[in-house]
Amino acid sequence: MPLMSRPGLVSFALGLPASELFPTAALARAMAEVLEQDPRALQYEASLIALKTHIVQLMARRGVTCTTDQVFVSAGAQQGMNMLVRVLLDAGRNVLVEDRTYTGLLQVLQPFGARPVPVATDAATGIDPDAVEHALTRGVRPAFIYTMSDGHNPLGVSTPPATRARMVEIARRHRVPIVEDDAYGLLHYGEGEAKPPMRSLDDQWVYYVGSFSKVLAPGLRVGWVVVPPDLTTHLSIVKESTDINTATLAQRAIVRTLDSDLLATHLPRLRAAYRERRDTMVRAIAQHFPSETRVSRPPCGMFVWAELPERLDTTRLFVDAVETERVAFVPGAAFAVEGARPALHCMRLNFSNVAPDRIETGIERLGNAIRRALAG
Ligand SMILES: Cc1ncc(COP(=O)(O)O)c(C=O)c1O
Repeated sequence: MPLMSRPGLVSFALGLPASELFPTAALARAMAEVLEQDPRALQYEASLIALKTHIVQLMARRGVTCTTDQVFVSAGAQQGMNMLVRVLLDAGRNVLVEDRTYTGLLQVLQPFGARPVPVATDAATGIDPDAVEHALTRGVRPAFIYTMSDGHNPLGVSTPPATRARMVEIARRHRVPIVEDDAYGLLHYGEGEAKPPMRSLDDQWVYYVGSFSKVLAPGLRVGWVVVPPDLTTHLSIVKESTDINTATLAQRAIVRTLDSDLLATHLPRLRAAYRERRDTMVRAIAQHFPSETRVSRPPCGMFVWAELPERLDTTRLFVDAVETERVAFVPGAAFAVEGARPALHCMRLNFSNVAPDRIETGIERLGNAIRRALAG
């Protein structure tokens, strides 16, 4: 942290959305209105049916059919996963994860003594269903399989539709649920909507996790899970013992902004801004990184994953990059699950939280640090 507070540092490290793009005016209006209208906006309150109805509509945009009794509102996707882990996991059980995965999930598993069992994944093709099948047939009985179909953190990959279908078929046949973390699914940069998530193919074996963090603001702390209705009862018990209810004011303000169809204008604006940042980053990498670099051009989400020449150790590079070049990233090793192939020569770069001109500067600086490291 002391390193990261250097003046002039360009940070591609944290996975933050752009705060200058938050819909602050719309949220301020919505909060003022709900407070003026009804003091219960500050009361303890069960999850709002009006919010669940909006979530059902959002899910329909993702190609998912669900009902309000399958929706469980949580304090962000992170809490949604935490609740699911607590409901699905007997202490010490295995969880199948991609061998480069979201560190937040590993942090949830750790206190439960759960063992993440890595299966292969790839920045171009996503989770390897053969590896999943192999693990399951060789006798690993996981409590669930955790994967991100779109905007993978850290790889940026979106799983091809055929892989999604195969994963669902495997889950059904082996009777192992998939927890599909779709925190970034609404942030895609192609034409039309993103590919439908795995949950669109199965409502029994895929538990979906969603969030308003990336499309409205993470400070609201509102997300959701979509699960079979009997599971929502278990989740409610765990939720009540944890934090009673998801912040009432935030829930009501979100309903208000969604009633006024904010996302119809806000989402295209976000997508356009992030698409420009992604393209700037990918272009700058092509210009300033070694030509052997394998880099993703993510169709969704907030991260570019770069695989550099194998002799480069990005954990070592980090200190020089910050101290000498004033640029930060997350070394690949941070995302590699224990016991999996290492990711020492890789790095995750966040593009959503840095303005395009700063992206150019930062990538050029990082290219200098990489060249120096490779030269010896
Ligand atoms: C893959 C993934 N899942 C979940 C989360 C947590 O999101 P939330 O703010 O909704 O808790 C993040 C946050 O960065 C994330 O990258």
